Amino acid sequence: MTETAKLSWDDKTLELPMMSPTAGPDVIDIRKLYAQGDVFTYDPGFTSTAACESSITFIDGDKGELMHRGYPIDQLAEKSHYLEVCYLLLYGELPTATQLEDFEARVTNHTMLHEQMTWFFRGFRRDAHPMAIMVGVVGAMSAFYHDSTDISDPWQREVASIRLIAKMPTIAAWAYKYSVGQPFVYPRNDLDYASNFLRMCFAVPAEEYQVNPILARAMDRIFTLHADHEQNASTSTVRLASSSGANPFACIAAGIACLWGPAHGGANQAALEMLREIGSPNRIPEFIEKAKDKDDPFRLMGFGHRVYKNFDPRAKVMKQSADEVLDLLGIENNPTLQVAKELEEIATSDPYFVEKKLYPNVDFYSGIILDAMGFPTSMFTPIFALARTVGWISQWKEQISDPGMKIGRPRQLYNGPTLRDYVDVENR
Ligand code: ACO
Repeated sequence: MTETAKLSWDDKTLELPMMSPTAGPDVIDIRKLYAQGDVFTYDPGFTSTAACESSITFIDGDKGELMHRGYPIDQLAEKSHYLEVCYLLLYGELPTATQLEDFEARVTNHTMLHEQMTWFFRGFRRDAHPMAIMVGVVGAMSAFYHDSTDISDPWQREVASIRLIAKMPTIAAWAYKYSVGQPFVYPRNDLDYASNFLRMCFAVPAEEYQVNPILARAMDRIFTLHADHEQNASTSTVRLASSSGANPFACIAAGIACLWGPAHGGANQAALEMLREIGSPNRIPEFIEKAKDKDDPFRLMGFGHRVYKNFDPRAKVMKQSADEVLDLLGIENNPTLQVAKELEEIATSDPYFVEKKLYPNVDFYSGIILDAMGFPTSMFTPIFALARTVGWISQWKEQISDPGMKIGRPRQLYNGPTLRDYVDVENR
């Protein structure tokens, strides 16, 4: 690789340093561009801009590869489990048996919420979307856990990280319980992370609840597949919020807010609703035509990705999981799964989708599994938020430990009026 890149315009030429990552395209370092050249770069949506250095997650969008700390996602989904992946993301290496045991114990011991927080839930309208409750309650954690909001103290950062990973299932499950008018179910420390979450969502005081281990494994796999995805919109939101020195609970609440949108985490809810609306395979061509029509805002939800221009590797695992879960639950000929599979087949051989490299993403099949487990569509995005919390936290910790961290402050291409004098109201 050359060491510098040359940029010329008008009568100026600037030599810009090149940076070489361990994987992925080389990077032109433009940090001094404005100071030395008096110009900005224009990149809305950050399609060509690296906003940070990171060693957590790597995606090769053309090949459809995703790795956490170097380990491919399909190996992690098959051989590992969520809390082990959390450890890997947070600390950089797979844990030894003792380290894992210690980490699981620390997470398990933080699963309860401050009892006073139950009043926050009760303040919401009973038909509030669980994501609205999560944004509010996670932000409100800053008001309860003052002993872990000092970001300059590594110990407090560690405690905040464990608290967020541990309490997020309780918050998500209680947001659900509140929205269906059932009493909150407290966490049980003898259960694993996924089983505990299922129990807090589906147990009621009137009867015993046995966690189905197969569903718990499928739940854990969904968490694992959503754990981190490098600098996506919500992670970048967390990093931007954190760059001002905001406390971790406020930053994660910002990430949850961003994740909610249908172009990001909200797509799993939108994808299942779309599959249900299509209803039967014979209506697929009609929806494909709508998606291709430039005058129609409709898009195939769960299709396309900013980075993947090939199959999303998470979608492959999710598709296989959907088959397994429906099979184990004895759900035969599920019409939504049939529509999903045929839609995938038709769309991936249609020139429009092929040319634009639009493939199913992680959200295309996850909704089918969550639906089969008994979750309403409104819970799909909260589950994504729960699982992504470790990614947000890992990226937040990495950013804070970076000595080169600066407040995030993009520039703009101003297109408004230039200087003009104020006109009194009677003269306008
Ligand atoms: N259906 C139909 N056409 C699509 C779709 C789609 N799902 N996605 C992209 N396109 C088309 C666009 O119309 C555009 O066409 P044009 O070049 O003729 O104008 C082209 O493909 C590129 O699309 P952009 O929106 O410019 O691509 P971008 O990288 O900005 O968007 C996004 C990526 C937001 C994911 C987009 O593909 C989309 O809206 N998909 C549906 C929502 C979805 O599934 N989101 C989940 C993403 S994954 C996640 O967050 C976990």
